[in-house]
Amino acid sequence: MSAIPELELALRGVEIGNCSGRDVDKFERFGLTPAPSKRVAPPLVAECFANLECKVTDTRLVNKYNLFVLEVLKAWIDPAQKNPKTIHHLGHGKFVVDDEMIKLKSRMP
Ligand SMILES: Cc1cc2nc3c(=O)[nH]c(=O)nc-3n(C[C@H](O)[C@H](O)[C@H](O)COP(=O)(O)O)c2cc1C
Repeated sequence: MSAIPELELALRGVEIGNCSGRDVDKFERFGLTPAPSKRVAPPLVAECFANLECKVTDTRLVNKYNLFVLEVLKAWIDPAQKNPKTIHHLGHGKFVVDDEMIKLKSRMP
C-alpha cells in the first residue's frame, strides 16, 4: 500500500516514518483511520488524498540499490480533498511543498 499524505499530515508523516508497525499500531497512535482495500491485504489510510494498492513485481534491484519495483493494482483518490498540497522529502527534515500550477498547451496527440 502506498498512501500519499498532503501538507497537513507532514508532521505526523515524519513521526510515522520514524517508528515501526512492529512496535506500535500506527493507526491508533497517530489518529488515522483504516479503510478497506480491494486488491491487497493492508488497509487504505482514509486521511490521505491518494492511496495506491501495490504489489512487488521486481526485486532484482533490491540488493544493489534497495529499490523495489511495484505495480499499482488499484488507485484511490479522496474527491473531498480538491487541491491537496503534496510534500516531497529532500532528506534531513527538509520538504518541498507544491505550489503554483501552470498550464501549457498540450503536445500530447
Ligand atoms: C520523512 C520520511 C520519508 C520516508 N520515505 C520513505 C520512502 O520513500 N520509502 C521507504 O521505503 N521508506 C521511507 N521512510 C522510512 C519508512 O517510513 C520506515 O522504514 C517505516 O516507517 C518503517 O515502518 P514499518 O516497520 O511499519 O514498515 C521514510 C521515513 C520518513 C521519516
